[in-house]
Amino acid sequence: MRDVAIVGVGMSKFGEEWNRGFREIVIDAGKKALNDAKIKGEEIDGMFVGTMAAGSLIGQEHVGALIADFMGLTPIASTRVEAACASGGVAFRQGYMAIASGLHDCVVVGGAEKMTDVSTASVSDALGGAGDQEWELFMGATFPALYAFMAKRHMHEYGTTEEQMASVAVKNHYNAARNPCAQYQNEITIETVMKSKVVASPLKVFDCSPITDGAAAVVLMPLEKAKKYTEKPIKIIASAQASDVIALHSRRSLTELAATKIAAKKAFAQAKLTPKDIDVCEVHDCFTIAEIMAIEDLGFFKKGEGGKASAEGKTRLDGEIPINTSGGLKGCGHPVGATGIKQIVEIAWQLRGEANQRQVKDARIGMTHNVGGSGATCAIHILEKGF
Ligand SMILES: CC(C)(COP(=O)(O)OP(=O)(O)OC[C@H]1O[C@@H](n2cnc3c(N)ncnc32)[C@H](O)[C@@H]1OP(=O)(O)O)[C@@H](O)C(=O)NCCC(=O)NCCS
Repeated sequence: MRDVAIVGVGMSKFGEEWNRGFREIVIDAGKKALNDAKIKGEEIDGMFVGTMAAGSLIGQEHVGALIADFMGLTPIASTRVEAACASGGVAFRQGYMAIASGLHDCVVVGGAEKMTDVSTASVSDALGGAGDQEWELFMGATFPALYAFMAKRHMHEYGTTEEQMASVAVKNHYNAARNPCAQYQNEITIETVMKSKVVASPLKVFDCSPITDGAAAVVLMPLEKAKKYTEKPIKIIASAQASDVIALHSRRSLTELAATKIAAKKAFAQAKLTPKDIDVCEVHDCFTIAEIMAIEDLGFFKKGEGGKASAEGKTRLDGEIPINTSGGLKGCGHPVGATGIKQIVEIAWQLRGEANQRQVKDARIGMTHNVGGSGATCAIHILEKGF
């Protein structure tokens, strides 16, 4: 296996894109990544594109070929990857494996979703396909409802409060306000969250990630070759993925995601590290309760203590373990297929010391945690400053 490095990163500004289509935002992110890597299209020999629901949201399938065409990269091997909201993280792992195995020498991995061209009801239906269509969605459960079950159970078992969940949204909006690529650039208060409309009790609008258009891309190479292209290569020191039963009613517990715990264990073993070694982490906060569960399942805090730790500021930019410096899915936005790649872009910026107002001091090792559906897929990566 060869060591693999990230040599270029880029993303479109996340938000509601009324004037650009799917292909334009992917090309925007792709061009930024290629320019950042200072490479030409001819040098790329493979591409993976993570997208969850292009068919239902914009009527476009065959996205791998579409992007190769509009990026001017034909006839390279270009593959679409789908793993619900973990499409980006799983696509990144495919790119990593393609380079590590020696099958490819320079790969672009993109992630994209165009979600705002259809109504919220149609988006909810499309996202619902990430759960168990027959037993959950057909019975009336939306995604906010599935996470509301987990929130209720977490509150019941550990005394987690709505205010503690709200503190996650407040922190993520604070970080997003310092990220020019974020969908929401406004700070909010606990009161903003508490007074927002209930979506699925106890989750309110400000406990939810929004509906977003956006794309992100990275360029990967063998570490040896990367040093010729950049003074700041980012080394991938762990890539892990796990799955779990898809429906909530089949889970042993509603207060943890087993796939996160298993993927994290594998990732820490591969990198020979523990949670204490991580300087900065992007986690999958599709709902505020998801961030609380993630920081527990990843081992940063004991089970049941994630809510308290969040409210005490332990996950802020200057806290014990800064979480979601990009603003997370809540503040930066959640174009589902793009999220996993955006997390990688943010950690690369942090390790390169290029995160400006949201820079974590002396960040050397970073982690990304990308979840599909209500937890049936999880992709985790650990990145290290390679310079
Ligand atoms: C919460 C949700 C239902 C709100 O959708 P909606 O009621 O159609 O909201 P609208 O698009 O009409 O937006 C109304 C306003 O609220 C804002 N808003 C919408 N969602 C928001 C959110 N999650 N956080 C903060 N503000 C939000 C909009 O920006 C808009 O503001 P404006 O009036 O100043 O322009 C929707 O964002 C949602 O379904 N989120 C969850 C997405 C999801 O499940 N993702 C997958 C997770 S696994």
